[in-house]
Amino acid sequence: MTSEEIRSLLARPREGGIIVLGETGSTNADAKRLAMEGAPAGTVVIADRQTAGRGRLGRTFLSESGRGLYFSMLLRPALPAEKLLPLTGLCAVAAARAAEKAGGLPVGVKWVNDLILNGKKLGGILTELGFDNKGGVAFAVAGIGVNLAYTRGEFEKAGLGDMATSFAAEGALTDGAVLAALLIEELGRMAEALETGGTRPYAEEYRRRSVTIGRPVKIMYPAGSETGRALDIDDNFGLVVEKDGGERTVVRTGEVSVRGLYGYV
Ligand code: BTN
Repeated sequence: MTSEEIRSLLARPREGGIIVLGETGSTNADAKRLAMEGAPAGTVVIADRQTAGRGRLGRTFLSESGRGLYFSMLLRPALPAEKLLPLTGLCAVAAARAAEKAGGLPVGVKWVNDLILNGKKLGGILTELGFDNKGGVAFAVAGIGVNLAYTRGEFEKAGLGDMATSFAAEGALTDGAVLAALLIEELGRMAEALETGGTRPYAEEYRRRSVTIGRPVKIMYPAGSETGRALDIDDNFGLVVEKDGGERTVVRTGEVSVRGLYGYV
């Protein structure tokens, strides 16, 4: 995959750099470094392989060569941090749209940042913020990993047999450059919606794509867990849960397991 190939697939020409690497630690780390060096919004970093691919909550993200798209885009939203609470959810909608178009199969979202295909994890989103010395938001990085060509055997070998899938494992042939171009377009639209306050349609689409709403869930805390049923997603992409005792709560961060997904019974 080359940056020229990705550019040739874009509907409109763009300014921001597209950096395509063979191997790197983490494209999110690269994008953050570029941000601190002054790179403009829209700069994209893609790698064929990551040696330290990261997910939420400090998890590793499987990042083998020729098997997935490992993509990060630098954003510079002129908004305070509290307005960026929905960023991960917004990116999940943008990524689900792009993946669905590229793969031709319906892509769902498990709260908050997992892309789901046929009940298994197709990919994930890791958003990170950088702050200036006055505590304002200097930049955000939207990191997206999508499993394209892993086989079931490869997931089993990595201990992810119950959990993960790829477009190839579900019978779809997907081109990484096509997906990268679609991600650039969708994230560009999302960034515009974020700056202009036009994110309501994204929350609606998130609800439509949600595989979490209506299902029994387990909310994981550092010390223990609670069970209940997911009722809704609010406009800030918080998960509204009715706990088993009847009390309602909105989960904004952390981890929620959905019964029936990823081997949780
Ligand atoms: C998750 O599953 O919790 C999020 C996974 C995010 C993975 C992508 S791959 C490109 C970018 N670089 C990283 O190190 N992580 C993200």
